[in-house]
Amino acid sequence: MTIYFAPMEGITDGILRRVHHQLLGGIDIYGLPFHKLTHTLSLTTREKRDVAPEENRGLTALPQALTRNPEQLIAWLQHVSAWGYACADLNLGCPSPTVTKRGRGSGLLRELPALRGFLDRVFAAPLPVPLSVKTRIGYERPEEWPDILALLSAYPFAHVTVHVRTTREQYSGGIHPEAFDLALRQGLPHPVYNGDLRTPEDVRALLARCPGTEAVMIGRGLLADPALARRIRGGPAASDEELRTWYTALYEGWAARFQPTIALGRIKKLMEWPCENNIPQKRLLRRAGDIEGCIAAALGGRPSK
Ligand SMILES: Cc1cc2nc3c(=O)[nH]c(=O)nc-3n(C[C@H](O)[C@H](O)[C@H](O)COP(=O)(O)O)c2cc1C
Repeated sequence: MTIYFAPMEGITDGILRRVHHQLLGGIDIYGLPFHKLTHTLSLTTREKRDVAPEENRGLTALPQALTRNPEQLIAWLQHVSAWGYACADLNLGCPSPTVTKRGRGSGLLRELPALRGFLDRVFAAPLPVPLSVKTRIGYERPEEWPDILALLSAYPFAHVTVHVRTTREQYSGGIHPEAFDLALRQGLPHPVYNGDLRTPEDVRALLARCPGTEAVMIGRGLLADPALARRIRGGPAASDEELRTWYTALYEGWAARFQPTIALGRIKKLMEWPCENNIPQKRLLRRAGDIEGCIAAALGGRPSK
């Protein structure tokens, strides 16, 4: 099975990707948070740094673009090729109102004729690198999926990642694995399942329900359990020692790049994921004044081995 680490803007930066790859592994491809393309194609400092080859050394990364302009996308793909990437991704999944109101991200899913026109122009000529896409299953309702699926199936995407929610459903509430099942039954080439995989049991349940699944993308599950991909492959859970090393290496990486308070803020935000339903633990974490305090809070105050 191919496992992708989902792109998560503001969280999965190059430091997290490299530390994860070195210490825990189990991931085949790390998604990069989107580049919001503009007519000048100028990237922000963060976007430039994030996509720089040295930021992703030793791992396979998949850059992503957010645009509805075919010329911008094609020009950006030339850059992606020059940076040395083997594939690039189009974002049709972002549900943020600031993005969708401009008809970008999942906003394009409610304008299928415009989406078709955009993709016709993108695929009119050979592309410098293969293009994949990450989509939701509808804007308002899951019933929109068969039309979206038929549309996307008409283009030679390298793979299609399906977050089995609508735009309206954002990131919580029920998921619709039957939409992924339909994609498999209709022969969508190289589908990648995405949505709420938190444990190896969740992956087993997905495989039982959708036996043709060959690839999954995982986001928040890996924030809560950074060894999840390894466990899905039959490996061990992260030991306390590994978790200490993981959080310390991340903190040191971020402290070398940002102000210490920002680095501490980032590590606290990340550590909230494993503490998700534990209010006292979250309170301890919030009060912690340094990385040691954070680790003690996240690991339940267990003494260092
Ligand atoms: C904070 C945050 C930032 C995200 N940023 C991106 C992004 O830049 N590009 C993208 O395609 N998806 C983005 N996503 C969506 C995730 O990649 C993923 O599709 C979503 O979290 C569902 O997967 P999960 O249930 O495994 O977390 C983001 C999600 C979160 C929570």
